[in-house]
Amino acid sequence: MPKELYKIHQIDAREINKLIKKPVVSVTITSPPYFDLKDYGYAEQIGFGQSYDAYLNDLVKVFTNVFNCTLDTGTLWVIIDMFRKEGETVPLPFDFANKIKAIGWKLQEVIIWGKDKTVPWAHKGQMRNSFEYVLMFSKSENYTFHIDTVRDYEALKKWWVKYPERYNPRGKTPEAIWHFDIPVQGSWGKGYIRHFCPLPEEMIAQILKLTTVEGDVVLDPFSGSGAVLSKAANMKRRYIGSELNPEYIQMFENYLLQTGEEKRLEYEQGERTLLHQNVFEELILKLRALKYARTFFQKLKDAKLDEIALVFVEMTDQAPQKTHLLIVVKYLILVRDQSKLQEIELATQKIIGKAPLSKFGIEPLFQYAGNFNDFSVMLPEGQLYAYTNKATHCYKKILSIREIGALSKNEVILSEIMVDLNEQDYE
Ligand SMILES: C[S@@+](CC[C@H](N)C(=O)[O-])C[C@H]1O[C@@H](n2cnc3c(N)ncnc32)[C@H](O)[C@@H]1O
Repeated sequence: MPKELYKIHQIDAREINKLIKKPVVSVTITSPPYFDLKDYGYAEQIGFGQSYDAYLNDLVKVFTNVFNCTLDTGTLWVIIDMFRKEGETVPLPFDFANKIKAIGWKLQEVIIWGKDKTVPWAHKGQMRNSFEYVLMFSKSENYTFHIDTVRDYEALKKWWVKYPERYNPRGKTPEAIWHFDIPVQGSWGKGYIRHFCPLPEEMIAQILKLTTVEGDVVLDPFSGSGAVLSKAANMKRRYIGSELNPEYIQMFENYLLQTGEEKRLEYEQGERTLLHQNVFEELILKLRALKYARTFFQKLKDAKLDEIALVFVEMTDQAPQKTHLLIVVKYLILVRDQSKLQEIELATQKIIGKAPLSKFGIEPLFQYAGNFNDFSVMLPEGQLYAYTNKATHCYKKILSIREIGALSKNEVILSEIMVDLNEQDYE
């Protein structure tokens, strides 16, 4: 496909099939022209001066083309609102979703975009209009959805020290109600915002992170100000747009020239914060691995098998066999009374198959030693951290295997994993 494909083209959105001849698009994010509200000043414009049926049929034409140029893993995000006509509310988002279902688009999610700022008045029988719909469709069931990239991991802090097993180590899934302010006058220039109502940059970024990686192709058949496509460019995605008004296209190109460099840097900095997310995940997994040992101890005790002297915990790089599990952790168990070994092994199988241990996302590899010599030869030479059977978020001692005698009665968990957190710091 020619290189010039990746720009905003001055063409009718109903004709993008002439432009994009095979499926290359990963995501389409767009807000279609309003129905009979705004005159964009072009004969081919969709919406103005049409009947509602003709309007919907034109949208079907556009989104049929979009469907055909979308990869099987691709998605479509449409920002769309209801409107008033002849004293009634017209449920455009739902009419639209029903119409394009026939093309093959599968409705996956309905998100409410809370706009936070809104006009201070409303028509009779209505509340103030403070939200729009974001409809998400997929081309197939096998669509791309990188939920880990948009998780809210800062919000967990308060809880994860004590309950690392309860929260996803990459953070909380965002709610289906999004809050993004409408852009205010700024770098886009005076009058610009009023004219276009561009979509908020952060909202576009969220959708792009969910659905694409660098180099993927983003489409907006009703580009307008080019808010979607400039964000795509800044996030190192390729983009294709169609728009009737050449002035808008020119404005977009100027904007990209003026701000592209700065915005790209901003994006790169943001990418670095992803590293924090990785560090966070690693910490949560360490907390889980250690707490698992402590919980295991307690459960054996509850089963009247108080025969375990020490547990050595070791994280591995192995991938778990079951996809819903997150890590494989080795637990080396020193059993006090060797004659109880079989009983302990049997009890272990029962305990780990049930909550709470089954909820830790851990695939445990148990190994047992019947005496201290067998146990110690399997331990690393270097520094070990000792944790108690009451708390595994801060170590109590640092020691080597030769100094095991220094352990007090409740210091029963050993590991090379170092965690030293103070619960109060995370209140
Ligand atoms: C609601 S605006 C899009 C605003 C855009 N999402 C933004 O952030 O600025 C709809 C745009 O569709 C354009 N448009 C209307 N009919 C069109 C058609 N048949 N082909 C291509 N663009 C069209 C209008 O010129 C207008 O810029």
